[in-house]
Amino acid sequence: MSDYLLVLDEGTTSTRAMLFASDGVLVASAQAPLTQHYPQAGWVEHDPREIWDKTLACALEVIPKAGGAAMIAGLGITNQRETVVAWDRATGEPLTRAIVWQDRRTEPLCAAMREAGHEDGVQQRTGLLLDPYFSGTKMRWMLDNVPEVKAAAERGTLAFGTVESWLTFKLTAGSSGYGAHISDASNASRTLLMGLEDAQFDEGLCDLFGVPLSALPGVTDMAGPLAMTDPSLFGCAIPITGMAGDQQAATIGQACLAPGQTKATYGTGAFVLTCRGTAIPRSSNRLLGTVLTQIDGNRTYAIEGSVFVAGSLVQWLRDSLGIVDLAEETEALARSIPDSGGVVIVPALAGLGAPHWRADARGVIAGLSFASGKAELARAALEAMAHQTHDLCAAFTADGAPWKTLRIDGGMAANDWMAQDLADVLGVTVERPGFVETTALGAAMLAATGAGLYASLDEAASAMRGQLARFEPGMDAAVREERLARWSKALTAA
Ligand code: G3P
Repeated sequence: MSDYLLVLDEGTTSTRAMLFASDGVLVASAQAPLTQHYPQAGWVEHDPREIWDKTLACALEVIPKAGGAAMIAGLGITNQRETVVAWDRATGEPLTRAIVWQDRRTEPLCAAMREAGHEDGVQQRTGLLLDPYFSGTKMRWMLDNVPEVKAAAERGTLAFGTVESWLTFKLTAGSSGYGAHISDASNASRTLLMGLEDAQFDEGLCDLFGVPLSALPGVTDMAGPLAMTDPSLFGCAIPITGMAGDQQAATIGQACLAPGQTKATYGTGAFVLTCRGTAIPRSSNRLLGTVLTQIDGNRTYAIEGSVFVAGSLVQWLRDSLGIVDLAEETEALARSIPDSGGVVIVPALAGLGAPHWRADARGVIAGLSFASGKAELARAALEAMAHQTHDLCAAFTADGAPWKTLRIDGGMAANDWMAQDLADVLGVTVERPGFVETTALGAAMLAATGAGLYASLDEAASAMRGQLARFEPGMDAAVREERLARWSKALTAA
């Protein structure tokens, strides 16, 4: 019986193919790292060809473990959001490197639009803010600065898309060269070019950002018969039945499908989403409104807090400072001392995201003394996760979306010390699933629902979700207050 689900999880630092059984058990996976290009301070780029080549290679590695493509009921795609790819529809080739979500180059354009008074209207329509994080200004930058992109726009062959759109184009194009140009509603809701209430990209928003509507994909549901892969790729066509931005996929994978349920993913960045059901989220505290699910044209929404630096801070300690050889060593270092000795890290290495939104902020290490060593720095880095999450928690509460429990996942969530610290500093129960790859699991749930293996996402979530570990708050209130006071002070220096 063909009831395997193939997930392509294209993240910021690596791309993976994962094969799931219909009960949510992971059967096989293959992973390849992605080259990060930093051509200038604040710029981050990826090579779209590398994304495609490595994703395809990973898929080809795991499909035989299912017994061939014919055994796969549905393919789910999930991806780093906001990252923009520009390609030529006629050749199927990229026109320039992808501009990654972390890239800050469009801050001057965002500042000019904010000064011109556009932010309130844009936030009202799209749920987003005028920050370089989102795709719209990245597209505009390519049109203004990359002659190949401008020329393709003039020829009428320019295709813009976020990463799921690029992968779908390549998956459906095969040797014919002509692929489907689609994007799912969750990814489309991160571009600034689609209103939260709109079914498709909006001409008025496209005009405001100077992006031609004709270069954008058609917006689809997130589960259902979305497209078919070209038969030449895998031996036979696989139906693409699920598609979601990775943070929405993780929210689904954590079964946060009822209003109020909240997840936090600690990957490269940290992303907290609270399900708001069918109510369109309106934030007064610099949080984002975003599409959570769209099936049969019916949407649910989430309120989101996006923090740009989480696991990437530990990577920086490892790769740039050489404080640890492996990221996991930070847990033992943090446990080896009773506190950070007053050291505080503000991880604004790529500016500050929610709820501060300061593109120009820079990282801070405060409170150093001669007694400060590796352990203090590692502990301060992990403590920064709880501090950043605490600021989000306050903003969510002020927006009328308090957290009762927090479901965590992502690479860093495997760190027990950090999970307990989160519970302690936030004062809420933290839950962690046994299987922390909830992004891929959520994409598998969408693909399974879209393939008709389950009647609804709720049904898929109950059938495919595993066991949970719980961390209860236990920190002394005075210790918490002191930590948060030190954090607030350090933030002012960022
Ligand atoms: O919004 C950016 C986000 O989708 C990136 O996710 O998992 O690659 O850090 P990740």
